[in-house]
Amino acid sequence: MKDPAIWWYVTRSSAIIAWALMVISVTWGILLSTRVMKPKDNPSWLLDLHRWLSGLSVVFVGIHMASLFVDKYAAFSLQDLFIPFHSQYQKIAWLGGWPVALGVICTYILFAVQATSLMMKKLPRKYWKAIHYSSYALVLLVSFHAGWSGTDVRAWAYRITALVLITLTTVALITRILFPKSAKTLSATVEGRRANQNKENLHKVLVDRVTPLADGILGLDFVRPDRSNLDPWVPGAHITLHLPDGMQRQYSLCGDPADRSQYSIAVLESPTSRGGSHYVHHNLKSGMNLEVSGPHNHFELEASNEYLFIAGGIGITPIKAMIESLPNRRHWRLLYAGRSRTSMAYANELSEMFGDRVIIHADDEQGGRPNLDALPEPLLDALSSKVSVDRLHYERFSAVDRSDDAIVEAFEVTLSRSDKKILVGKDESLLDALNENGGALISSCGEGVCGTCEVRVLKGQPMHLDSVMSDEDKDAIGVMYPCVSRSTGSTLVLDI
Ligand code: FES
Repeated sequence: MKDPAIWWYVTRSSAIIAWALMVISVTWGILLSTRVMKPKDNPSWLLDLHRWLSGLSVVFVGIHMASLFVDKYAAFSLQDLFIPFHSQYQKIAWLGGWPVALGVICTYILFAVQATSLMMKKLPRKYWKAIHYSSYALVLLVSFHAGWSGTDVRAWAYRITALVLITLTTVALITRILFPKSAKTLSATVEGRRANQNKENLHKVLVDRVTPLADGILGLDFVRPDRSNLDPWVPGAHITLHLPDGMQRQYSLCGDPADRSQYSIAVLESPTSRGGSHYVHHNLKSGMNLEVSGPHNHFELEASNEYLFIAGGIGITPIKAMIESLPNRRHWRLLYAGRSRTSMAYANELSEMFGDRVIIHADDEQGGRPNLDALPEPLLDALSSKVSVDRLHYERFSAVDRSDDAIVEAFEVTLSRSDKKILVGKDESLLDALNENGGALISSCGEGVCGTCEVRVLKGQPMHLDSVMSDEDKDAIGVMYPCVSRSTGSTLVLDI
């Protein structure tokens, strides 16, 4: 090596690059977990970048340590590199061994975060999460390590870089505090519902096209009457059709989220229709005006390395939008099951587009149903018993029978905004009792499936009898669905 200082340059530059990569990776992770940029981002791309940046930061930390070891001037031993407070290197006397010790501690945190991320699937999610959260402490500690032990702190370029990185870290951490996921989900759902109730986001659309997609399934495209852009949405979102007689029905969007000119839905005419799908099939024609609200999303695509999508019948609609939004190289498979190919919307289109990533299971061709029991609803029950709760994300189109969970007793409920107390009778639904007493809650399915009647719980433990999401998720974000759910105790306080 001609220039004996070369390793010292490598040490300093790799440290700055590793620091920058860590900060950007954590920032990306925060964008991913809070989704504050939604709908301008895409969880899959965010995840890719987050992983790539953090992997690269490990590589540069490795280069930083290796160059410290080979550099004759700094003369770090292996013990100096791996044992906190072993190094005698001191740039600021009153700090003792802390500046370098912080670097060693940060290395262990970084490797722990990386290792647990690689083992994410095998670890219980709460352990992975706890270790992953330590990356926030990591970026803070790295800033101190860089400021106290870096030899470039007097250089302007270094100072500007440090200022940008520290500002980014601060903004990222504040964003994480201000937009925790649960609060975001809560406001997205509860406030979205309130907006719905106030009809603030109700807008007029024109039925642009009605197309038969499969036996008993119609595809409908809606546009604004002036053909201007519609509100943005992300896969998993639904819109609410406001039909005559006050009927409101939710349908998943299944078009291309990037195409803001139209909303596309597919509607199966249910033999047990209570009016909604029957009306859509027999009355909606191209050129008609209609009111819709939304989009809202209770079924967002979680970021993941790979996906197994399973759709039963008309459940293909949100899934189609999801798989079409994924980057080409993402590993995913789709099991799409139905009674016959002619009754399965988009079956041929998806097979043509994605080849053997798509497995079509038509009962009449295969001589029976897939292994996961009957379709479509029992499919979810079968899956729930086979896949851990935190890895299974689903949306139901009909209610689960939860009559065994129900203990039908009278209870008292307090409406917090008016401090009014009402008694909900044994044979009365909570939703009816609330609405008779000024609750003004809208509802749609009346069976605890659609999520329209969601209310925020302030005190008390609801007796969840709905099928909208897992009971743990509802308790975590503090909501309940009063069209079917009740109270476990004698008191319940609701944010109404
Ligand atoms: S009205 Fe559908 S969940 Fe209550």
